[in-house]
Amino acid sequence: MRRRRQAPWMREMVREHRLHPSDFIWPLFICEGEGEEQPIASLRGVSRWSIDGIVERAKEAADAGIPAVALFPNTADKDRSEDAREALNPDNLVCRAVRGIKDAGIEIGVMTDVALDPYTSHGHDGLLAEDGSVDNDATVDILAAQALVQAAAGADIVAPSDMMDGRIAAIRDTLEDGGHSNTAIMAYSAKYASALYGPFRDAVGSGDRLKGDKRGYQMDPANGMEALQEVELDISEGADFVMVKPGMLYLDIVARVADTFETPVFAYMTSGEFAMIEECAAAGAGDRDTMLMEALTAFKRAGATGILSYHALEVARKLRA
Ligand code: PBG
Repeated sequence: MRRRRQAPWMREMVREHRLHPSDFIWPLFICEGEGEEQPIASLRGVSRWSIDGIVERAKEAADAGIPAVALFPNTADKDRSEDAREALNPDNLVCRAVRGIKDAGIEIGVMTDVALDPYTSHGHDGLLAEDGSVDNDATVDILAAQALVQAAAGADIVAPSDMMDGRIAAIRDTLEDGGHSNTAIMAYSAKYASALYGPFRDAVGSGDRLKGDKRGYQMDPANGMEALQEVELDISEGADFVMVKPGMLYLDIVARVADTFETPVFAYMTSGEFAMIEECAAAGAGDRDTMLMEALTAFKRAGATGILSYHALEVARKLRA
């Protein structure tokens, strides 16, 4: 076996998987204002940007060969409410950001998150029922309307991350009826109730608000087979792409989905997984760049079609150089 490992050229010759800029989707956090950059303390090196900055970031991403960006708003406090009505405002932060990127003529896919957590006063992804649980069907109605508003603003891909039952079918129907048959759906199909979303919740400002947890709708980390059922349902309801999230700790799920279905599968290196690498490196426990490339390559080896990663721009630029 070692004959094949004896020199860099030989290892290059037999390498099974490689990263490419087109493997990445870059998540970006948006804030209100003009010329604003707000560093996120728990997400080393990542900032929220006002829309002008988001447009610049999208341009950089396109120049680096990244096919799509994913937008997440930090909604102003005054616009958060029990019923998340700001999610349906055609002039909300995320819709304005989509239009900003599209009006600038940047050749890049724009993906928007369909879920209510950036808009609810309680931080949940859906509407609360009387008993405090998240009301599935009432939420699905709003999610479908939210997706339509985002598609109308110019989103190319809508990405439901809420984990309600039946939302993919409802969103697909609403998009068709609304004249947006070309808008694609990336379903967060196997999304787990993970402890690895902390820095993300800081970034969108939903963490401190969250009452309880999301275990009533996100998946139990102990379950694997159930992920295949979720993926199967989402594909049958019309998902164009499916996703596993978190990714790094769930590569077994990525591999099973990739082996079982023909639909492209994406995996999300979540904020907590980003922090694992950055904080580990900052503590002097490993070489940051080597750990990062190893982790990202592992997604490809598991069978991921693409990776949502906060490191996307940095890595895509490095791969191009
Ligand atoms: C919420 C959403 C979350 C993430 C993406 N969309 C957090 C959550 O479910 O609480 C997490 C992303 C990350 O941690 O990087 N709809």
